[in-house]
Amino acid sequence: MSNSMGITSYDYVEFYVGSAKMAAYWYAKGLGMDIKAYKGPETGCRDRTSYYLTKNDFKIVVTSPLQPDTYDIQTFLQKHGDGVKRWAYQVKNVEHAFTSAVQKGAVPVVKPFLLKDDNGVVHMATIKIYDDTEIVYFNNEQYKGLFQPGFDEPVQKIQLYNEDSKLLYIDHVVGNVRVNEMDQWANYFNQTMDFETFVDFGPGDISTKYSALLSKVVRSKDSVIKNPINEPYKGLKKSQIEEYIEHYHGSGVQHVAIATDDIVSSIQALRKNGIEFLEAPETYYENMRKSGRSPDETIEAIERQGILCDFEDITGGEGYLLQLFTKPIGDRPTFFFEIIQRVGGAQGFGQGNFQALFESIEQDQAKRGNL
Ligand code: FE2
Repeated sequence: MSNSMGITSYDYVEFYVGSAKMAAYWYAKGLGMDIKAYKGPETGCRDRTSYYLTKNDFKIVVTSPLQPDTYDIQTFLQKHGDGVKRWAYQVKNVEHAFTSAVQKGAVPVVKPFLLKDDNGVVHMATIKIYDDTEIVYFNNEQYKGLFQPGFDEPVQKIQLYNEDSKLLYIDHVVGNVRVNEMDQWANYFNQTMDFETFVDFGPGDISTKYSALLSKVVRSKDSVIKNPINEPYKGLKKSQIEEYIEHYHGSGVQHVAIATDDIVSSIQALRKNGIEFLEAPETYYENMRKSGRSPDETIEAIERQGILCDFEDITGGEGYLLQLFTKPIGDRPTFFFEIIQRVGGAQGFGQGNFQALFESIEQDQAKRGNL
């Protein structure tokens, strides 16, 4: 068990969006997050606005351009629509993480720098990942402010009524990449960040009647960080990964999984907040009853909320995991969230649910005319 990069956890995920103010409202109302900090004209930033939101240790930033020449954001949005621009790893030493990754072949984007104000100092550096996506090495241990210098109290103090989603932290971040890119990116993580390939789904492992995909999970050797990567594989019809790449116009982040320790309450709250989820096939719970296995939460409780369950001792692990996927959160069939609860040391990603899940996605794809 080692983590030579000094990565201690995921930190935040930053989305580029058409309207940060409206996205912040959606995250606050829908996912039950708090708008903690703000950056924009009122804080001296003229070309963009950002809102920083948290729910326990689940942290995000939503950012929008204010000027036609806010080039990096405008070109991203023009091509991809709303999506994940970067995610951050909290690291013990930014300089060390960046230098060792770049020495081993990582593509540098922003060299180590620091931001300072009366509240302390934040260290950051950035490397490239899928197409226009970036990974930030981030350290704010010596910062006492709300998020980082440049951010201030939100301008509008709004109190939103929402149900407590009980979301805790980021469990994993998944990439969708083009044909023949998966191995390249898996090697990139493994070589430059000392990760290892934990699961490898080859041809035939994940397929429905119509479509198929390949998937590899890379993770830090202490398994603090997990980054699955999917690639389309030839099938009779278009796979969900191909649909993503076509509408995102390239490779990028497909979903972020958020951990909870009470998924039944989480999903109930999120449904009340208006979040839409994929539906399990009708026979799903019937089959679970026939199998004679039940999670501690009971089959009835998870069935009421449409939650999927994967018993890992069947698929080679321990314990079980409960999970559910939202529908794409924006207008394009691209990014979505997963809510996940790991019980009894479950390490997987719901392999036993892939079939059910993909059939459900294909029903939605057919409605969009993309199958
Ligand atoms: Fe996932």
